[in-house]
Amino acid sequence: MNTIILKSEVGGLKSKLLELIKNSYLDGIPVVLPTETVYGLSAPYNNLEAIDNIFKIKNRPADNPLIVHIAHIEQIKLLSSEQIGPKTMSLLKSVWPGPLTLLLKKSEHVPSIVTANSEYVAIRMPNSTEFGQVIEFCGAPLVAPSANLSGKPSPTNANDAFEDLNGKVRYIIDGGQAQIGLESTIVRIEEELDSFTVLRPGKIDETVLAQYFANVQSNSSVSVKDSMLLCPGVKYKHYSPIARVWIIDDLDHLKVENTSDFIITCNSVDLGYANIYHFENEDELAKNLFRLFRLADRENVKNIFVQKPKNNLALLNRLQKAAEII
Ligand code: TXA
Ligand code: MG
Repeated sequence: MNTIILKSEVGGLKSKLLELIKNSYLDGIPVVLPTETVYGLSAPYNNLEAIDNIFKIKNRPADNPLIVHIAHIEQIKLLSSEQIGPKTMSLLKSVWPGPLTLLLKKSEHVPSIVTANSEYVAIRMPNSTEFGQVIEFCGAPLVAPSANLSGKPSPTNANDAFEDLNGKVRYIIDGGQAQIGLESTIVRIEEELDSFTVLRPGKIDETVLAQYFANVQSNSSVSVKDSMLLCPGVKYKHYSPIARVWIIDDLDHLKVENTSDFIITCNSVDLGYANIYHFENEDELAKNLFRLFRLADRENVKNIFVQKPKNNLALLNRLQKAAEII
């Protein structure tokens, strides 16, 4: 299959492009679309052939469910049988469209392949003109995992998606570099208990959620009543480049012997290394992390040294995962 990258315009996708995307789905072929977090490999939530192909293309285990993306808050009612409480609603109204995914009891309309047989469905309204337009045009919410091969870092731009999916999809829609660069926060809220559990850290962190709910449940605690709630995806190795990732507290004392190694930092002091990447702050570093992981692998780099983040806990989480040795 010939894979082409199509640029999204400032105002979004033209109707001709929307037709091409819809036809690709109808032929059972998912389409890569940009979001503010990472690029997603999308298909309508009720197109079983295209969804099956998402799993095949990514080589994704069947027990790893997919997030369903919506364009309007009212679409929750189609996907979930759960009543949304007033606090949850005000949280959603303040952060959506944005990098927060909510786990809710699924409705009968959601096919079991989407939730990997779980009774919960993950729902997010991305801040993506393209997703919004395609959902409207096809009249259906879209499932979308990150648009990488399983185990590789999520793509944050069209070229990185192309690197993994060339020959496997017809269209990659190019919306530029993703603004956040790390996957969404996944949360389960139990409003009657005034509590929330973060299942995957992201840009919307506990301090934001704690403005709405009094009790933070730990992901690993027994208070998560139902093990189905645990995010299956977090048990798989993720985010990892082939290069070895090291989290460094104090870059000043770092000794880099291999000149091709990467150093990624928010510190503006020039340490004199060839491949040093400086960022203004941790959010900028987070935005570029997966892009640099992929660049390092293309250049056969052996080690990536990253300055330990102090504030961005989603960034720290991804670095810790990437630095895990298995
Ligand atoms: O930012 C994001 O969330 C991106 C963009 C494309 O929206 N998507 C993304 O999807 O990161 P993916 O498939 O790469 O990661 C989704 C995570 C997985 O760890 C999966 O196990 C979990 O969400 N998940 C999805 N549905 C679930 C469900 N019903 N119950 C528990 N966990 C679920
Ligand atoms: Mg993923």
